[in-house]
Amino acid sequence: MSIQIPRGTQDILPGTSEVWQYIENKARELCRRYQYKEIRTPIFEHTELFLRGVGDTTDIVQKEMYSFKDRGDRDLTLRPEGTASAVRSYVEHKMFGWANQPVKLYYVGPMFRYERPQAGRFRQFVQFGIEALGSADPAIDAEVLSLAMNLYKELGLKKLKLVLNSLGDKESRTAHRNALVAHFEPRIDEFCSDCNNRLHKNPLRILDCKKDHDHELMKTAPSILDYLNEESVAYFEKVKQHLDDLGIEYILDPTLVRGLDYYNHTAFEIMSDAEGFGAITTLCGGGRYNGLAEEIGGSDAPGTPGIGFALSIERLIAALEAEKVELPIEQGIDCYLVSLGDAARDYTVKLAYQLRNAGFAVEKDYLDRKAKAQFKSADRLGARYVAVLGDDELENDNINLKNMATGEQVEMALESFVEEFKKQQS
Ligand code: HAM
Repeated sequence: MSIQIPRGTQDILPGTSEVWQYIENKARELCRRYQYKEIRTPIFEHTELFLRGVGDTTDIVQKEMYSFKDRGDRDLTLRPEGTASAVRSYVEHKMFGWANQPVKLYYVGPMFRYERPQAGRFRQFVQFGIEALGSADPAIDAEVLSLAMNLYKELGLKKLKLVLNSLGDKESRTAHRNALVAHFEPRIDEFCSDCNNRLHKNPLRILDCKKDHDHELMKTAPSILDYLNEESVAYFEKVKQHLDDLGIEYILDPTLVRGLDYYNHTAFEIMSDAEGFGAITTLCGGGRYNGLAEEIGGSDAPGTPGIGFALSIERLIAALEAEKVELPIEQGIDCYLVSLGDAARDYTVKLAYQLRNAGFAVEKDYLDRKAKAQFKSADRLGARYVAVLGDDELENDNINLKNMATGEQVEMALESFVEEFKKQQS
């Protein structure tokens, strides 16, 4: 049997890769306007980074990591997300000392999670993400959110829902955590073994449990909003005020718990509301992670605030398909060279080379096909012009250029063809 692609991965073929490029270019362009700079980190990291960064009670760390030992007996993991790596790099390169603060980074690249593959859920997927490190200004929260929303909007998506919550600062989280333990502990034996393990380590994770989702205690669990201290409330109010000023609508959801441990204060997800969009509707997730740099880098980066988001291109494309958005992807080529006869065919090798050097997208025949088949190829490729060169024309130093939109044909001197073609285009 022939070898097939691993489960949960996909080949992006020509025809579709143009859609990916269009989206990635749009993301990069937005980052330029918002002044986020690209960072490229390794695809594998020391496993310890994700244990400390993402959190050892999360599903990602416990069940979904592609971890392995290399030949030097090191514990390595294919990155399941980009934030831990960006923050590791921030600390390692002492970016907190850079002249421009806050440090604003973006990345585009593959992430790996051993999840059950289904629509919108892959084992290898590509995240576009941004991270702003070094500022605790609520205005940055609004900036990060607005960049994510603008990417979707500028691509033509309309059916979006921004869901917002605050997880508060350390003090608020501790108070909420104690309340959660008190709430679940008396009946914890009715919950799955994962939840039992989570109770004292990280009770917030219980709210995110896929198995016990419908247990009655879930609905009556203490809400974080009742445990936010004054400072956390004030911070959240300011974030909301900025969003209101920018005209960005949101829905407050005190039950929004993100699947990673590093969050505090602002947490959010952007969902698709489009009809026919699959069961998994979250397009983008993110939030604030003040203190993660310290967790990863120790005393080098005490108290560094940070915020960011990540979204997968796979789910973005699924949303575009659900909303039937056609991206304005440029197709077609500038010129197809049709040749009739051996000498003419040889000549088109040189002509194609010259036209391509002049910046044009050009194709010619390589299968020794008849003129009719060559014209068909030109049509299929969306050629704006077709240049026809026969052995007779070659002898007379002539070439025939046909404008495919108007049907107009002109004869030109072969010698000056490239120059003439350039003039026609300008
Ligand atoms: P996350 O919620 O785990 O957050 O993932 C962010 C986004 O990645 C999701 O909303 C979804 O679009 C996409 N995604 C996750 N898993 C899959 C999958 N198996 N298949 C396809 N797409 C997937 C993070 O990764 C955080 N690092 C986000 C962040 C950045 N927070 C702060 N900065």
